[in-house]
Amino acid sequence: MPDFNPVLSKEEIEKAVAELAQQISIDYHNREVVIIGVLKGAFIFLADLVRYLSIPVQIDFVRLSSYGCNTETSGSICLTKELEIDITGREVLVVEDIIDTGLSLEFLLEHLKSKEPKSVRLCTLIDKRERRDRQFIIDYVGRIVEQGFLVGYGLDYAEQYRHLPAIYDLKL
Ligand code: IMP
Ligand code: MG
Repeated sequence: MPDFNPVLSKEEIEKAVAELAQQISIDYHNREVVIIGVLKGAFIFLADLVRYLSIPVQIDFVRLSSYGCNTETSGSICLTKELEIDITGREVLVVEDIIDTGLSLEFLLEHLKSKEPKSVRLCTLIDKRERRDRQFIIDYVGRIVEQGFLVGYGLDYAEQYRHLPAIYDLKL
């Protein structure tokens, strides 16, 4: 049986999400924004975040695939679900569950920029720094975590544990 070491409680997540939403609502006041969630991991975070926003938004999803059934990134990223909203000339906010090496985000940013949006900003619930390989400005960060393999609140290990309401460091 793996060990689950608590990293963020349900209450801590709720506070982080509300704070992010408040800042985003201020920054995008009187602007139209398209929120792009990165599936699958961001589905719970995005669902909570948008309910705290006080600005009107449009919502779309992409799906990137970089993990198989293990904790090592395979290095090859593919887009397995494309956007449905046209983002040309639009303000875009990408919502991620966690940024680890940054490889998948680098791939996604290139993909989005080819569609010529007016602006692209990044929001992640967790900025996991230890293995970062690509540098970007992350405009909105919920919590910085140095290391570990996190599960819960959308984050999975081999498709398990996404449903947990809190976030844990999984020790196999
Ligand atoms: P990156 O390309 O290394 O930044 O990682 C991209 C994706 O890998 C994230 O969006 C997550 O879906 C997944 N991932 C990275 N670290 C973790 C983790 O600690 N737990 C679960 N999924 C993770
Ligand atoms: Mg993800």
